[in-house]
Amino acid sequence: MKIKWSIPDIGEEEAEAAKEAVKEGWISGFGPRIKEFEEKFAHKVGAKRAIAVCNGTCGLIAALMGAKAVLADIAPAFSRLKIHVPTWTYIASANTADLVGELHLWDVYPRTFNIKADELGRQRGADDIIMPVDVGGLPVNYDELKGYNTIADSSESLGAVYNGRKIGSIADAHVFSFFSSKVITTGEGGMITTNNNFLGEKIRKITNQGYAGNPWDYWHVMKGFNFRMTEMQAAIGLVQLRKLDTFVNKRRILAKVYRETLSDLVEYQYEPENRKSSYYLFTILVPPKIRNQLREHLQRNEIETRLWRPVHMQTPYAEFYHQSFLYADYLYNWHLHLPIHNCMTEEEALLVGETIVKYMRDNK
Ligand SMILES: Cc1ncc(COP(=O)(O)O)c(C=O)c1O
Repeated sequence: MKIKWSIPDIGEEEAEAAKEAVKEGWISGFGPRIKEFEEKFAHKVGAKRAIAVCNGTCGLIAALMGAKAVLADIAPAFSRLKIHVPTWTYIASANTADLVGELHLWDVYPRTFNIKADELGRQRGADDIIMPVDVGGLPVNYDELKGYNTIADSSESLGAVYNGRKIGSIADAHVFSFFSSKVITTGEGGMITTNNNFLGEKIRKITNQGYAGNPWDYWHVMKGFNFRMTEMQAAIGLVQLRKLDTFVNKRRILAKVYRETLSDLVEYQYEPENRKSSYYLFTILVPPKIRNQLREHLQRNEIETRLWRPVHMQTPYAEFYHQSFLYADYLYNWHLHLPIHNCMTEEEALLVGETIVKYMRDNK
């Protein structure tokens, strides 16, 4: 494939950092690099605390369980936790909500692809949790969610900005993923950030077998798991974090090249004035009658793309098949995720854009 959909931007420096950790014998989840990575990450996104985890999925489970534990402390009678999730997301958002509580799926706004919060207010209870997803790297409208319990799936939006604030301290907790295609990577890995010490304490315990304090006392004060990150991952993460601003700038330049080349031939995920996407995804919308042919044409030109399927169309969620999700269905039929990654050049983005323009002009 000439132009890959995503390539991790990782090399000598990261390899050296991981090697150092191995040589020193710090390999599991309690070493100094993890602490340093957590501190630097929290500082970078403007949050009070950060908790490193083995991946974003486990981060979501821990954050939801932590929020549930806090709600149970406040209202001991509460038992059934409703968790509201947009259907236009990666399936981990729904799977983790379904595991921890009762999953409620929501449609999205057709322009930003973010959870359609204007309808939520009428139907949610005071103890419900909303899981907004900064899909494609674009922050949701957090102002609309004020007063809700929010565990944000920010897996795709590291480095994004909302009203001048970095994503990481706006919701009650944010969860990030460091999978290989993400804005920064540690192979597998993730981070939870929060400004709420009480919630942060619960989450820390859940990610660490519910230990009271020192693990070597083997005293467990709540149910938890081993969701810890390894020291090698943290060593890589520290190097990647230093490059975050460069990575995000690069992605934003590539997005600009795409928009300038494709102009008004296609529709895009709309980026409102007060939000800056980290462009984890660059998604275009093209009429369904040519979308699949365009994808095949790009494939023949060795340009890789991706297609999503919303949660309500996935096999484990058959109970939602017949529910109406007007805008998510529209996105499903019209969307195409174009290549975008930290190693991609502007020339490559131009080539992809021009290939699409030519195809669309020839197939009007
Ligand atoms: C929106 C979203 N949620 C959750 C995840 C899960 O993260 P991970 O793959 O690190 O478990 C991802 C990434 O894959 C994602 O894009």
